[in-house]
Amino acid sequence: MNKIKIISGIIAVMILTITLYSCTAQRAAASKKSGAQLWGENCIRCHNIPSPGDYNDVDWETIGLHMRIRANLTEEEIVKIVEFMKTVN
Ligand code: HEC
Repeated sequence: MNKIKIISGIIAVMILTITLYSCTAQRAAASKKSGAQLWGENCIRCHNIPSPGDYNDVDWETIGLHMRIRANLTEEEIVKIVEFMKTVN
């Protein structure tokens, strides 16, 4: 009985480690992407992709807050996207 408990304990720790490691690896990959790249990948998922020139800088700040929630983006990702939207205006 005890052996089974120990083995399942080890397996649980292994699964946890692998899961946590793969999440960190994905996050690291996302942080290497540019604002333009993140914009191209994310902002077309639900509607036509908005052009940077469609809104002014102040509007992009508000839209960023709104779309961060809608698109489930990290703070870092949305900051990069909003910076990109502002530079191209
Ligand atoms: C998960 C789906 C989804 C993703 C991904 C998404 N949007 Fe949206 N977006 C919406 C919806 C839905 C609306 C309509 C307004 C509402 O109901 O929230 C909208 C509206 C907008 C509007 C109109 C103004 C406003 O704030 O309502 C703009 C501009 C916009 N999105 C830009 C973006 C940008 C830029 C991105 C990429 C960071 C993005 N969206 C990613 C769902 C999404």
